Amino acid sequence: MSGFDLVPLSPTFGVEVRGVDLMDVTAERFFPILRALFEEHSALLFRDQNMTPGKHLEIAGLFGPIEDRKSDERKSGEAFRIPEVTNIGEDGSTSGEMDLHTLNLKANFLWHSDSTFMPTPALINMITAKVVPSTGGATELASTRAAWAGMPGDMKARVRGRGVRHRYSHSRAKISAELARLPMFHKWPDQHWNSVWTNPVNGREALYIASHAFAVDGYGEAEGEALLDELTAFCSRPRYVYSHDWSVGDVMIWDQRAVMHRGTPWPYGEPRKLASLCAGAGDSDGLPSIRMPRPPVDPE
Ligand SMILES: [Fe+2]
Repeated sequence: MSGFDLVPLSPTFGVEVRGVDLMDVTAERFFPILRALFEEHSALLFRDQNMTPGKHLEIAGLFGPIEDRKSDERKSGEAFRIPEVTNIGEDGSTSGEMDLHTLNLKANFLWHSDSTFMPTPALINMITAKVVPSTGGATELASTRAAWAGMPGDMKARVRGRGVRHRYSHSRAKISAELARLPMFHKWPDQHWNSVWTNPVNGREALYIASHAFAVDGYGEAEGEALLDELTAFCSRPRYVYSHDWSVGDVMIWDQRAVMHRGTPWPYGEPRKLASLCAGAGDSDGLPSIRMPRPPVDPE
């Protein structure tokens, strides 16, 4: 395909794309091929890239509108900055293991899809590694498309067709009650998404859940949570997981509709910095098909 080499990342999903300089990607040049690979393989890895922040924004923006969770926090005239997943503070020091910033990073160690708690959930996350620790700090991806395809029918039947409710503070509460109380985790009302997201391009189904999910329609609170835990455990079986050890210059793009992900620990005294952009899902990505009506009764 246009001189690209594709190397599988795992037996079930994901490819490394060799032979492309992301600086050469534009809407007309290469992007249509990348988009097709994304639909097919769910996760794309590019190594040894020298991508500028501007190109990062441009390519992510070709997938959908760039997500901007902090628009309400910026002062007027303050420009959008590409979000960083990092333990490096403004003064250059690393954050302490138990401070709230680090606890929030630890909440990202729970399997999730990005922004399922927002009115427009993410279609992609596009991450590039800027600073990597000597050990640890991998990002792990789990294909909920491959897992759904391999899931026993009786297990699927317990969740298929049901709405799942998502709340940002729910995933934070699993780590720390104090963390979950921060206003930044209460900006959006609960979201209610179908448990299965069908890719409109190829018809492939994927389970759509996350650490932010707190209730499944038709189940009581504890029963719903237990089902979500069981489904997450199934999806994160080794055969559905790719674990990526970052090198500086690596770029990964993955499909939030069909892949969950999590961070993994590293020595917190060591700096780590990833630049991370999400782009939102839209109508042509199948978003209308997962919208569920607001549930009439709150289980709480
Ligand atoms: Fe994430």
